[in-house]
Amino acid sequence: MDGEYKNILETAVMAATEAGRMIFERVDTNKQISHKGAFNNLVTDVDRASEKMITDMIRQRHPEHSILAEEGGEVGADGSSFKWVIDPIDGTTNYAHGFPFFCVSIGVIYGKSVKVGAVYDPCRKELFTALDKGGAFLNGKKIGVSHISRMTDALMATGFAYDLSEKSSNVKYFDIMLKKAQAVRRAGSAALDLCYVACGRFDGYWEFNLSPWDTAAGQLIVREAGGLVSTLDGKDFDIYDKEILAANTGIYAEMREVLSSIRA
Ligand code: IPD
Ligand code: CA
Ligand code: CA
Repeated sequence: MDGEYKNILETAVMAATEAGRMIFERVDTNKQISHKGAFNNLVTDVDRASEKMITDMIRQRHPEHSILAEEGGEVGADGSSFKWVIDPIDGTTNYAHGFPFFCVSIGVIYGKSVKVGAVYDPCRKELFTALDKGGAFLNGKKIGVSHISRMTDALMATGFAYDLSEKSSNVKYFDIMLKKAQAVRRAGSAALDLCYVACGRFDGYWEFNLSPWDTAAGQLIVREAGGLVSTLDGKDFDIYDKEILAANTGIYAEMREVLSSIRA
């Protein structure tokens, strides 16, 4: 199976970097922007073009595999134990405005867990990759989470859902974390937020209301970099969970305690 995963990683890297290059070339052009229901939930023609490029490549190289893609849904073969989970542009609002923090994210599940992850940030030409039990890498160099051990020394990340209802609100958590951590960023790409935890630029990250394509690749990259990934109540994170807490081992427990006490 190891050889199979390496082969899948090769496809994931090729798809993420080629799609990433294409979206980067089009970032300053006139994009067609439409809304997915809410006024603040955008999709561009480039999201769709990126997704097509990626799914075409997967279908060609792994025609028997299933695919779950953000814009098209289930578009691959039925019933395979392999499932590709794709975010063609994570950080679409940033992308639409030319704010340089967006990426392509591809995770591949076998059975119940993610075995392969690739996230490509075309602005910084940074490729984050991981294989289950094989470590995490940034442009081919092994990465690890930070060694910060107190929240007062930590740089945190979070995000806000498109759903602005009270029940989905992260504002209370943000308010309290602002006072507990050294600083909190909301950069606008969940997949990159996770990769930044993996390489130690962020020390911890939490968010609610996420979808599998936001987290599939990034959460594997964090784990393989030595970080912890769970729900707020400490359950091992599954990509179909909506909420996530990812952190280095030094601040994970403190972060979880603070976040779960806000919910209580
Ligand atoms: C969004 C980004 C953002 C997060 C949102 C996601 P999209 O994904 O990851 O950081 O806060 O919850 O939906 O729509 O840009 O692919
Ligand atoms: Ca996303
Ligand atoms: Ca997206």
